Amino acid sequence: MIKKFAVPRGTSDILPDLSPRWEILELKARQVLKMYGYREIRTPIYEDVNLFKRSLGQTSDVVNKQLLELKSASEDEGLALRPEGTAAVVRSYVENSLDNKEALSKLFYIGPMFRGERPQKGRLRQFHQIGAEAIGSNSTSAYLDAEMIIMAMNLLKEFGVQGPRLKINSLGSREDKANISAWLRGEFAKHKSELCPQCQERFERNVFRVLDCKNEGCKKIVASLVKNLPLSNDSQDYFNKVQAALNDAGIAFEVAPHLVRGLDYYTHTVFEITADGLGSQDAVGAGGRYSGLVHELGGNERVDYGAIGFALGVERILLASGQSTEVPSSIDAYVIAMDEAYESKAFGLLAQLRAKGISATMTFADTFKKFKTQMERANKANARFALILGEDEIKNNTVALKDMQVGSQESVSINDVIGNIKNKLI
Ligand code: HAM
Repeated sequence: MIKKFAVPRGTSDILPDLSPRWEILELKARQVLKMYGYREIRTPIYEDVNLFKRSLGQTSDVVNKQLLELKSASEDEGLALRPEGTAAVVRSYVENSLDNKEALSKLFYIGPMFRGERPQKGRLRQFHQIGAEAIGSNSTSAYLDAEMIIMAMNLLKEFGVQGPRLKINSLGSREDKANISAWLRGEFAKHKSELCPQCQERFERNVFRVLDCKNEGCKKIVASLVKNLPLSNDSQDYFNKVQAALNDAGIAFEVAPHLVRGLDYYTHTVFEITADGLGSQDAVGAGGRYSGLVHELGGNERVDYGAIGFALGVERILLASGQSTEVPSSIDAYVIAMDEAYESKAFGLLAQLRAKGISATMTFADTFKKFKTQMERANKANARFALILGEDEIKNNTVALKDMQVGSQESVSINDVIGNIKNKLI
């Protein structure tokens, strides 16, 4: 028996009946992102594994458990499929000295990301993100944080995502993060034995992650602490400005002190957007500020960089907007030769139609093609017009033009048929 292969676990084929959904979504995304002045960047789907380890943090789940590393006998060792886009964009920003070319680089990307997660609804090993990153020298402004969040919300609205809810928080500056971390350790130390086993480990490795633990016991301990996190006045002022700008723009949000995000590079503003109908994996997008990462990856020490971005999950957007269903495809014209002898004429007509922007196809088979079969195929292809070449048509230099929508049929001179179709397609 010949082995049949299946798509790898946690990945899926996007079949032709579904791909129009993706096409429309990507088209809308590009339109909106360009409206805000973002330009597309395409980086490789794999990078030096240490880029991810350095950027996302050794203690993050993504690095710890989910990196899909590439094994190769050649020099290509130490590579991993990208689990997200930010690290690669910053790598490229620094490598190509984009800061010499522009004060603020507004970049976006659309493409597959890879994480070795346990697959479930809305959680895949290969998934797709629409991401945006704004990186620049001396570019830290609360309005940029607000613009980023507004743009993410606008994208979700444009995609028809139902009930998007925005949560925001501030992790403070790097110094704040260090202070908060030390303070949390002190506080959690008093309750260490009451923390769940995973949080006992987090206590050692990344104490921030205790804040978003779902365990009821941990939640109780966390509840009283999150109100008193020692955020500096400067960081609080900055966060207040972001909130004011969002309020002015009419964007509803909830301040969520538990929101810490799983990736190490964040400082100051972080946000997450959830939507209805997704079950437990309900985040359609997330992001935040990560200004320190540019230096971490070799940016000019003398420059004060600001950086912020987000990524939206395409599969979850399609689920949350009810667009994960198939769409019937269609074609403008289906050319039918009633006899093999007319096939070359039909083939020539196809080329003329396409040259004038009319999508067209015909039946390809080396056996004799029955008229009925060809009409069935035209129907199945959702062709708007069937162009039939029979004995009379060949003799008179005409085409029998059948409008499949209306059901009418007329004889049209072969020279006029393209113009005729074009008029009706408008
Ligand atoms: P993230 O929260 O890891 O952030 O992912 C962003 C979004 O990608 C999630 O909200 C979710 O919609 C989608 N996503 C993540 N993992 C999966 C998965 N296994 N299956 C399906 N969808 C998934 C980042 O990736 C950051 N790079 C965002 C960012 C950009 N921060 C600053 N700039």
